[in-house]
Amino acid sequence: MKLSASRLKELAARHGTPLFIIDHDIIRRNYRLFKKRLPGVQAYYAVKANSNPEIVRTLFDEGASFDVASYNEFMQVYTYLRHFNPQEKHFYIWDKIIFSNTIKDHQTLRKIRKYRPLMTFDNTDEVGKIARHCDTAGLILRLKVPDFGSQVEMSSKFGAEPGDALALIRQAHDAGLEVEGLSFHVGSQCTNFENYTSALQITAEVYAEARRLGYPLKIVDIGGGFPVPYESDSPRFEKLARIITAECRRLFPKDTELIAEPGRFMAATAAVLISEIIGTARRDGKLFYHINDGVYHSFSGVVYDHWIPNFRALRTGRQEVCAVVGPTCDSFDKISTAESLPGNLRIGDLLVTNNIGAYSIASSTRFNGFEGARVLHLNTL
Ligand SMILES: Cc1ncc(COP(=O)(O)O)c(C=O)c1O
Repeated sequence: MKLSASRLKELAARHGTPLFIIDHDIIRRNYRLFKKRLPGVQAYYAVKANSNPEIVRTLFDEGASFDVASYNEFMQVYTYLRHFNPQEKHFYIWDKIIFSNTIKDHQTLRKIRKYRPLMTFDNTDEVGKIARHCDTAGLILRLKVPDFGSQVEMSSKFGAEPGDALALIRQAHDAGLEVEGLSFHVGSQCTNFENYTSALQITAEVYAEARRLGYPLKIVDIGGGFPVPYESDSPRFEKLARIITAECRRLFPKDTELIAEPGRFMAATAAVLISEIIGTARRDGKLFYHINDGVYHSFSGVVYDHWIPNFRALRTGRQEVCAVVGPTCDSFDKISTAESLPGNLRIGDLLVTNNIGAYSIASSTRFNGFEGARVLHLNTL
């Protein structure tokens, strides 16, 4: 997001800090770019990336589908369906929502049974649970795929071994459930595009074999992982989209429905954070800037998302390697211990962090009594 220094200062003065600014034009632009470069792929926004209701609203208005991980995330989308008649509501949920959490508790399964929801699974016990509590579901079997080099790996917790896939499909079928397709997740912020080509190859083999055995699979869900340009030399989404399009054409029959679950790609570049220096100190010779946001709040991605944040000062000065730390009384609350910033910053100076829209405020807490950043929306309709 490109806001001038004077505009950032003006917004900070008007609304206070920490201030988390979301530009909805960028959310819309990201969604449209995704659709343009992957035109045959139905995009389910992974609400977990940033569950702010206004973001969900903007994407809902754009016509996005949604990937939800819990009943509460489901209800966030459902809020926007309240004016639909029952038939439209059922159709929307059936067509545009996927429960992508491979493990669901039975209470959730019972509550969503009436909607014939699409959901993922990756193990035997889940088949039994779904058959008992949500036999109307359409199933997507999630496969374990390589996630080498991705910022956040996924395959250590999720995904069936491809060698177990046919047995799981058979088990689901024998339990009276319909397996509609296969999915994978190559890891979040996947900059190693070979993960996608390997995952598509693995998926295509299982898909072809299952169809050969008479199981009517029709959906391939290519998950999330689409990278955003945190660095100027980050591999580009456009290149990845070309690879995915070519590989899908080569590997899957024409009647295959392709879907995806992009999260970070929609939200990351749409937000900027303005924080403020509330204290300075020299500790063992190193300059510490204590700011009013930290890893328990908007910078939670440093912990949960392995994110390396960026900082920019709005005052110039000789650069010095310093630490930037959060406001809580916890020594773990260090955002960066090696940040190059002007050494002459003072209490009250502002720091700006770009591309902080995903996996940030979604996992913010109120630890130590700090409320976290105020959220400001720009360009809502
Ligand atoms: C099942 C699932 N789908 C989609 C996503 C979104 O991934 P990303 O933000 O990398 O696009 C996640 C994120 O971890 C996920 O767990």
